[in-house]
Amino acid sequence: MSLPESTNETSLRDSAALLSWYMDMGVDEAIGEVAVDRFAAAAEQKAKAQAAAPPQRQVKREAQGYFPAAADSPRAPPEAQGLGLLNPDTSIADAKALAAGATSIEELYQALAGFDGCPLKKTAKSLVLSDGNPEAHLMLIGEAPGADEDRQGKPFVGRSGQLLDRILAAIGLDRASEDPATSAFISNTIFWRPPGNRKPTAAETETCLPFILRAIELADPKIIVCLGATPMQRLCNTTEGILRSRGKWRETVVNGRPVPLMPTLHPAYLLRQPAQKGLCWRDMLAVRKKLDEVT
Ligand code: URA
Repeated sequence: MSLPESTNETSLRDSAALLSWYMDMGVDEAIGEVAVDRFAAAAEQKAKAQAAAPPQRQVKREAQGYFPAAADSPRAPPEAQGLGLLNPDTSIADAKALAAGATSIEELYQALAGFDGCPLKKTAKSLVLSDGNPEAHLMLIGEAPGADEDRQGKPFVGRSGQLLDRILAAIGLDRASEDPATSAFISNTIFWRPPGNRKPTAAETETCLPFILRAIELADPKIIVCLGATPMQRLCNTTEGILRSRGKWRETVVNGRPVPLMPTLHPAYLLRQPAQKGLCWRDMLAVRKKLDEVT
């Protein structure tokens, strides 16, 4: 049954308005609320097909070297070869070795560029490591790149980044400044955009952890600010929520030295909940005061 013409037009207009609203809200991919691990689904399908296959075929494939022996396969178990399914232990060991070998932020970028242990690399356009001045006294760590960051290859360049720049300006800092005392160094817990801007999984943050720890060592900041729960939980090894933990100084050890760490609200949260900006302002005033004390 076809709808009367006026209803069709109305529903077309409504659909276009809804799509445009989705675009404005940053919804640019049709993705469910729960992340689907398609690599795992593919591996399961493949395992089922192998189990059902006659034994001769299996022998023939092995004889042809289709599946490398485990000893020849440093990155993934044989059933995962070619599917992008990674062995988490091997990925973390690779990440630690690569990160430890970097002696500058540029080398760390190159090390990450050669790292295949995080499946997000397959879906992202760019590797996003850092922006600002690596010599800065203040280092800020966010969650993960979004669509704008993925396009430009730099952290915090979208709407959240613009708000972050205003927050920094309010305490006399500018990421572009060459003076360590008035600049900021910015990075993330994850270096590739999660599809649809979903929250990074624990496996993803664990795999990337050696790289952000090395970035912190190399930048050797006097103060660290964690933007939102993800960096705070990973760096402080806690499951505490950000609303409870924000505004309270913590301490982490960098290059054998205690470094004050302030968890605060993520700018993206503040864009959704502008009434909470006052809390972040309070935290950043505490950061300003601490910067004056330690420098
Ligand atoms: N949100 C983040 O946590 N990091 C970015 O780089 C951009 C948005």
